[in-house]
Amino acid sequence: MNKDYFEQLLIKTDLSLPAPEREPERQYYFIKKLRGIYTELYAKKKRDLCYHVETYGCQMNAKDSEKLAGILSMIGFKPTDSEKNADFVIYNTCTVRENANLKVYGRVGYLGNLKKKNPDMMIALCGCMMQEEHVVKKIKESYGFVDLVFGTHNLYMFAELLYECMLRKDRKPLVRVIDSSDKIVEALPSEQKYGFKAGVNISFGCNNFCTYCIVPYVRGREKSRKPDEIVSEVAEMVDNGVKEVMLLGQNVNSYGKDFLKNKAAAERMNQAVDFPELLHMVSMIPGLMRIRFMTPHPKDLSDKLIEEIANNPKVCKHVHLPLQSGSTEILRKMNRHYTKEDYLNLVKKIKDRIPGVALTTDIIVGFPGETEEDFADTLDVVEKAGFASAYTFQYSKRAGTPAASYPGQVPEDVVSERFDRLLALIHDTSDKLAKKAAGSVSEVLVEEINAEKGTLTGRMNNNMLVHFEGDEKLLGELVNVKLIECKGFYYLGELI
Ligand code: SAH
Ligand code: SF4
Ligand code: F3S
Repeated sequence: MNKDYFEQLLIKTDLSLPAPEREPERQYYFIKKLRGIYTELYAKKKRDLCYHVETYGCQMNAKDSEKLAGILSMIGFKPTDSEKNADFVIYNTCTVRENANLKVYGRVGYLGNLKKKNPDMMIALCGCMMQEEHVVKKIKESYGFVDLVFGTHNLYMFAELLYECMLRKDRKPLVRVIDSSDKIVEALPSEQKYGFKAGVNISFGCNNFCTYCIVPYVRGREKSRKPDEIVSEVAEMVDNGVKEVMLLGQNVNSYGKDFLKNKAAAERMNQAVDFPELLHMVSMIPGLMRIRFMTPHPKDLSDKLIEEIANNPKVCKHVHLPLQSGSTEILRKMNRHYTKEDYLNLVKKIKDRIPGVALTTDIIVGFPGETEEDFADTLDVVEKAGFASAYTFQYSKRAGTPAASYPGQVPEDVVSERFDRLLALIHDTSDKLAKKAAGSVSEVLVEEINAEKGTLTGRMNNNMLVHFEGDEKLLGELVNVKLIECKGFYYLGELI
C-alpha cells in the first residue's frame, strides 16, 4: 500500500458520520479530523508544523517510530532533526536496561524547559517504558507538562489518542496505556527512514521469559502476522525501491507457532507457515535483493532454517545468535533452555553448512550468581565461536523480573572488571577474523554518504561496513568494493 492508497482511504472517510468501529478505518477517520484541525493551526502560524520522533530502543522500537512518523506525515506535519524546532516531540522509549530508562527522564526534563519557551509544543511519550506502572506514576507526578502517554499495545491508535488529547479540558497528561491486546492492526501508514532498506515486523511480543528480561512484560505474548500481509508489505516496499529487508521478531524461530495455540491467532493466520518457509516466500519477491532477520533464539534454531540460509542466495550470510552467557549453570538460571555445549554445537553446525557465515551475539556480564568460573566459560565460548562482533551488556536489574530477586547479585566493580576483559577478548577475536577478508571483493549496499570526508559507507552481505570513495548517486545501490585495510569493525575499500 502506497501513499496514494492511503489518501484514497482518507477521501472515502466521511466525517459527518460517527467514527467507524472497524480498524484501520477508525484511525483514518481521526487522521482526517486532525488534518482539519492542524490545517487551521498552520494557517494561523503561517509556517509548516514539524515533528521529531526519537527512538530509544531496538529495531522494533525503530519500526514503531516509523509508524508514528507515517501518521504524523499524513496529518500534515513535516519531520525535523531536533526537538528545538519541533511543534510535536515524541519519545519512543526502551526499558530493557536501567540506563536506557534514565536517559529518557533526563531528556524529558530538557523538553520541559523547551516547553516553557514554546507553550504550544506537544509532548508525547510512548514505547516500552510506558508499560510500567511506576514510570507512568512518576511522569504524572514530576513531568506534568507531558501531553500524551501511551503504550506498546495501542500504538496503532495514535491518531485517535492525539485527537482525544487535543480535546481535553485540562493540561494534565492524557494517559492511555493498556495491559495487553491480541489485535494486530494492518494497513496504517509508515514513513521509512531509508528508501532502500526497511524493517518488517513478522511477530510482536515474546513468550520466552528469560529471567533477566523485561520485554515479555512490556510487549506481551507472541503474536505472528499473517504471511500474506508480510509478503504484500515487502512487495510494496520493493516496488517503492527497497532492496533489503530485515524481518523483525523477538524470537523469529517461533514465528507462526501461536497459530496452533490460540483461536484469535488462528484466525489471523490463514496458512500455517513456519519461519524458514516465510523466509522462502519473501525471497520469491522479484526485485528484492537481500533479506536479513533478527533475532533467532539458539534453543530452537532448526536445521530447516540453516538449510534455507545456506541455499537461498537472497538470505544474508549473517546470523545474530545471542549467547547471553557461556556457563550452563547461568544459562539455566536465565531460563535459556540450552547448555554451553548445545550452543557450541549449533555454532559448528551453522559454520559447516554456511561457509563464510558471520556470527554475532549478545552477552550479559554479571548475571546474579555469576562466578569467576562461569565467566571463564563465557570467555571460552567467545574464543571458540569466533564472533564477528558482539553486543556486551552489564546485567541490569529490572523490577518485576525473576532475576531481580535472585541471590548473589554481583558487585559493580567485579562486573565492570569482567566486562573490560570480555571486551578486550572480543576485539581480539573479531579483529583477527576481519583481517582475513583483506584483499577480497565484496558486494555492498551503499547506506550512507559521509559528506565531510567525501566517502560512502556500504554494508556487506555479512553485515560488516566498508568506507570508500564514490559518487553520492550510488546511495541505495549494490556495488562491488575491494577490501583494502581492516580498521577493526570496519574496512577501508575501493570501488571496482
Ligand atoms: N529477543 C532478543 C533480544 C532482546 S533484548 C533475544 O532474545 O536475543 C536485547 C539484548 O539485551 C538481549 O539479548 C540481552 O543481551 C540484553 N538484555 C536484556 N535484558 C537485559 C538486562 N536485564 N540486563 C542486561 N542486558 C539485558
Ligand atoms: Fe527477552 Fe529472552 Fe524474549 Fe529475548 S527471548 S526478548 S531476551 S525474554
Ligand atoms: Fe527496548 Fe522494548 Fe526493544 S524494552 S529493546 S524497545 S522491545
